[in-house]
Amino acid sequence: MCYFCSIIQSKADMNFTIDIKNCSRVVVGSAEALLPQLLPSKRVIVVSDTNIDRHYHSLLEQYDHILIGLGETSKTLHTVDNIYRRFIELGVDRSCFVLGIGGGIVTDVAGFAAATYMRGLEFGFISTSLLGQVDASVGGKNGVNVDGYKNMVGTFCQPKFVVCDVDMLRTLSRREFRTGLAEMIKSAVIADAELFKMLEECDFSLLQRNTAQLSELVFRAIKVKADIVERDERETGDRRKLNLGHTLAHAIEKSSSKMNHGEAVAVGLAHIADAAQRGGLLSAEDKQRIVALLEKAGFALTPPVEMRRLLKEVKKDKKSEGEQIYVVFPRAIGECVVEKMPLEEFKALFK
Ligand code: GLY
Repeated sequence: MCYFCSIIQSKADMNFTIDIKNCSRVVVGSAEALLPQLLPSKRVIVVSDTNIDRHYHSLLEQYDHILIGLGETSKTLHTVDNIYRRFIELGVDRSCFVLGIGGGIVTDVAGFAAATYMRGLEFGFISTSLLGQVDASVGGKNGVNVDGYKNMVGTFCQPKFVVCDVDMLRTLSRREFRTGLAEMIKSAVIADAELFKMLEECDFSLLQRNTAQLSELVFRAIKVKADIVERDERETGDRRKLNLGHTLAHAIEKSSSKMNHGEAVAVGLAHIADAAQRGGLLSAEDKQRIVALLEKAGFALTPPVEMRRLLKEVKKDKKSEGEQIYVVFPRAIGECVVEKMPLEEFKALFK
């Protein structure tokens, strides 16, 4: 029986493949076609969530599977502990392969559980959200939040593969789809001016169902990330660029439940672009293009809580070291720069 029945159209071998660090293969293409090629001949344990179970139950039921709850509140050590206990019940050992099927929360949690259980099992992902495909599932960062602070505990451990099937994005709500657009715009601002132009010309209202166009955009955004991770897997240099807009975004997510990750990133991007322009780093025209593209994608660019409250959370961000913080500024569309600065100087940018 076809478990992707509602989504397979004629996808005519439209695979785009990127290998990261010679060990992690990211493929944009049909999950149904790719999975048999990519899965090792090992016992497979699936980690997924209740939403994926609703849409792809017949896929999940082919494997022993563990379902986690929905939303950022599930991204905790408590959830990971429950997965370990289920692994033990199921007799999971180092000869097994963990397959995370879901959005960024599932892949962060599944990757972390797999990378730490018995000191590490092999794992791979089918990434089912736009945000996961262009960012969270790619690049080997796995982890959970602690007390609402994002990704405070985790590992760098590359998945064997990540399958990004853009047709699986059709079941996302418009809001969920849009949240991934923020990360795509971020990638374009960081290092791909051509991608930015393609996004400016794109009709976002039709994109979710346009397999060919979406595959190309997703691939380009992944390429930005893959190139950076290839150079700096452990975030001691260039990988910090991927945090463009994220310092304010994490503070927004910590302070308010009104915005999801992508919505908070959009606010962070607009504000850091504005600060870069006021500081003479970014032209007024490029800043305006960034704001206009975020608005075209439908993002509100005003923080949901007062800036004063947001800035209080910044000290506890993991991008800070003592009283210093690494800040990423756009210098042009497709180019950005990382600066280490005193926390107080960063906060003053937004006062
Ligand atoms: N999401 C940022 C990174 O993977 O480095």
